Amino acid sequence: MNGKNKGIIIFGGTGDLTYRKLIPALYNLFSTNKLDNNEKIIAIGRRDYSQEMYHDIIREWVKQFSRIKYEEEVFNAFLLHVCYYEMDFTNLDEYEALASYFREKEIENPIFYYAVAPQFFGVITDGIHSIKECCKGRIILEKPFGNSLDEANRLSHKLEESFGSENIYRIDHYLGKEMIRNIETIRFDNPIFANNWNYEGIENIQIQALEEVGVETRGAYYDHAGALKDMVQNHLMQILTLIAMEKPTPEHNIHIQQVEVLKALRPVERLIVEESLVLGQYDGYLQEDKVEPNSKTETYAALKLFVENKRWKEVPFYIKTGKKTGTREMSVIITFKKTNPDVDANILTIKIQPLEGISLKFNMKEPGDSDSIIQTEMDFCQSCIARNRINTPEAYERLLLLCMQGDQSWFSKWDQIYLSWKYIEDLKLEYRKLQLPIYTYEQNSEGPKEVDQILNDESHVWAQSQLVCKI
Ligand code: BG6
Repeated sequence: MNGKNKGIIIFGGTGDLTYRKLIPALYNLFSTNKLDNNEKIIAIGRRDYSQEMYHDIIREWVKQFSRIKYEEEVFNAFLLHVCYYEMDFTNLDEYEALASYFREKEIENPIFYYAVAPQFFGVITDGIHSIKECCKGRIILEKPFGNSLDEANRLSHKLEESFGSENIYRIDHYLGKEMIRNIETIRFDNPIFANNWNYEGIENIQIQALEEVGVETRGAYYDHAGALKDMVQNHLMQILTLIAMEKPTPEHNIHIQQVEVLKALRPVERLIVEESLVLGQYDGYLQEDKVEPNSKTETYAALKLFVENKRWKEVPFYIKTGKKTGTREMSVIITFKKTNPDVDANILTIKIQPLEGISLKFNMKEPGDSDSIIQTEMDFCQSCIARNRINTPEAYERLLLLCMQGDQSWFSKWDQIYLSWKYIEDLKLEYRKLQLPIYTYEQNSEGPKEVDQILNDESHVWAQSQLVCKI
């Protein structure tokens, strides 16, 4: 086939991910001239929609969710790229017709986006594989990669055998966030940090991702996942490994360095689990739609982990995430060792969202005749500058573009996912075996009040990263 066109084929074209994230991201790429003229976006769904109906639906989502303001004329031009294709993707007999459709549209080597639940990954893989002669391409998928680690492992091997590992792009949208991509530069290109980024310079590291929202309409999925699977084993372990890894080199790329950190985590069998993990559930969770009435699923998790290598020795890494915590805040807080017990610690905060920036607390002499030492703060709010907001693509936009360019560096590899999944699963199993409680916490509170005490977290600086600058 002599394909003249490129294609992004979205399985799950009428799903939430497509409407909220993928279509707005593609619209933004189009608006910023990053979508090639010959790029076709084919949304596959089972619903009986006409092209016009589908276009009208996505218009409303783009108005609501696009980073770049909706403009009628631009959107109408964008629609020339978007087609709706009705199909039951669980029926292998329908793939030959899909191949004919690609031929008709002259699409070659498309990107297939699995925006569907993991139980459909296998059948879609078989379907695409069956039309491989016409349509070799790249595959994008995202968590959950399977309903269990075994299933995900099998699926991953099947995908790699069918399409080659160089064509599999596993999205972790946190890797597309501006300040997460900034971690390497902040760490390695500032000698004041680079030279102190170890157990001699750092007291503890805290990674927090607090959410204001609850499970909303995703009760059925979330009740099987819980905070550990939903946030910790993917997004937050990505951040931990970026913070803890050695500097990437051409021989040891970022991915290899991240995996080394995962391998160096203190093994679960040597952790005192009752002092390393606290799980909580917000009051009212059991009344959420599609949640089991006596569910023991955690909506909050706090962990204390250690990376046992030369760089980190006994430095604790605290991770904390929860829904309905009354605030939306994601940050990494690095507390440096004090020069003497009478002064405050220097604290570096990398602010990931909602505002992006960096702040540093340090000590100064109080102005005037006093010799007292006071703590002061330098605070840079990157996203408070309008130009930065306009120029910063959102995570999905950035990652879709990287996939189109064939750049896998900001996508997860299976060994990395496997190691963090296994680690977090083992930890949770131990927690269950020990019959440790799932603490109930009030909605709009900071989470279970027992956390600091159980984890023996003496620093109490979790909430110190609030930005003062308002947009
Ligand atoms: C998703 C989780 O991966 O990340 C959600 O499934 C969570 O439960 C979301 O709310 C958080 O993403 P963000 O980009 O809003 O921090």
